[in-house]
Amino acid sequence: MANLISYNLLNSTDIDFFLEILPPECVKTDKNSLEAAAKDYTEDLSFLPAIVLLPRETQEVAAIMKHCFHRNLPVTPRGAGTGLSGGALPVYGGVVLAMAKMNQVLHLDENNLQVSVQPGIITQQLQELVETKGLFYPPDPSSRGSSFIGGNLAESSGGPRAVKYGVSKDYVLNLEVVLPNGTIMETGAKVLKNATGYNLTQLMVGSEGTLGIITRIDLKLIPLPKMNWLMLVPFVSPEKACEAVSAVFRAGLCPSALEFMEREGIVFTLKYRSDLSFPLPDEAKAMLLIEVDGNSEEELMNQCEGITHVLDSFAPSDIWMATSASEKEALWKVRRAIGEAVKSHSIYKEEDTVVPRFQLPALLQKVKELGKTYGFESVCYGHAGDGNLHVNIIRGNLSQEAWENELPKAIRELFAYVKSLGGTLSGEHGIGWVQKNYMDIALSPTALTLMRGIKKLFDPTGILNPGKIFPDEEV
Ligand code: LAC
Ligand code: ZN
Repeated sequence: MANLISYNLLNSTDIDFFLEILPPECVKTDKNSLEAAAKDYTEDLSFLPAIVLLPRETQEVAAIMKHCFHRNLPVTPRGAGTGLSGGALPVYGGVVLAMAKMNQVLHLDENNLQVSVQPGIITQQLQELVETKGLFYPPDPSSRGSSFIGGNLAESSGGPRAVKYGVSKDYVLNLEVVLPNGTIMETGAKVLKNATGYNLTQLMVGSEGTLGIITRIDLKLIPLPKMNWLMLVPFVSPEKACEAVSAVFRAGLCPSALEFMEREGIVFTLKYRSDLSFPLPDEAKAMLLIEVDGNSEEELMNQCEGITHVLDSFAPSDIWMATSASEKEALWKVRRAIGEAVKSHSIYKEEDTVVPRFQLPALLQKVKELGKTYGFESVCYGHAGDGNLHVNIIRGNLSQEAWENELPKAIRELFAYVKSLGGTLSGEHGIGWVQKNYMDIALSPTALTLMRGIKKLFDPTGILNPGKIFPDEEV
């Protein structure tokens, strides 16, 4: 593999410097801390850093970056480590900059329906806090019980509700960012409209920690809908389930989630989490989980009737409705646990394919065809309403040779097909470390050159999250 960047190694003078600006409990060099920061949720990948630093405020981040910039030390920012594309893996060792101690809500502005937070707050905690005020931060990645808002923004994460409410980036108004050389800057303003120059805020979102460290986030909130119901719909054919998805939207309906699950995903989850239960009829080969929300029962009833009417022509084997909080939560728990359950079954590669939603049946068919050709099993699930299909390729009994050399060919074929359908590599997990060598499929040389130019402008010496996003030869 091409390795065009060389960095200095951490020495004792660096550690002394960090201990001058941070208390000892925020400077970690013990084996357990390094091993914990060596991994995220991506496959079984692991890269040991030399040190883990836990800054508590922006000035500390700036001082750390300034030092690393002058010393040419690689720095990998880290949220909660739940990423699925290896964005938080310190592939060049060096410094892991962990944001766990920057977890404060700075200002909940009920007058403007906004909240300012540090990046290390757990997303679900933020959601629950604003809900006590009747406000709503909709993006709900499956990891929201542990992932940090900063990591969610770094990867432009989504979740089931994105289909109605948009992804994380749609709620970001302004960011405070520390650049690789230690400069502190703001990217925008706390306004709902902004036509003032290039959109640096949105450039930062989804940049996977390669351009700057997010140290404060100003988010927009919306009023919390009063109620939601959940429909669970089994299908005897996964293709039919996928075909039904675009029909729902074509009929003018707007569910707040429309999720697809192949039977195997549910079976793995029920084996992995014996505490969970889920109605899974024998004939069901796939399920759609459809949420509707609103402010009155009448509104929800209208949506459900409309959806039922559309689904009827796709031969669902039954339709269940969950209206109580406990029934709904039981279904969502199973849906949210699928990724972890598949991982507990076998190492897997998670492809985060996304296509225009009408193309979903074609995408699913291609995945299964490639599986037959290359000899792999797959479990597909995800945000069907967004055309975002998580394709989990199971390692199972595949040989090292098949896993390392043959499978990338299958993935290239899959991505090329996705591209031909008008889709792209990742909807919400990012490119990070594991997808970067497929970037040539999604983006033209011109687009990649522009992106490399942007990286160079922000990070001229390449110390920030090196080895990510750009194909190997383009480090
Ligand atoms: C999910 C994660 C894997 O949808 O994106 O469960
Ligand atoms: Zn997802």
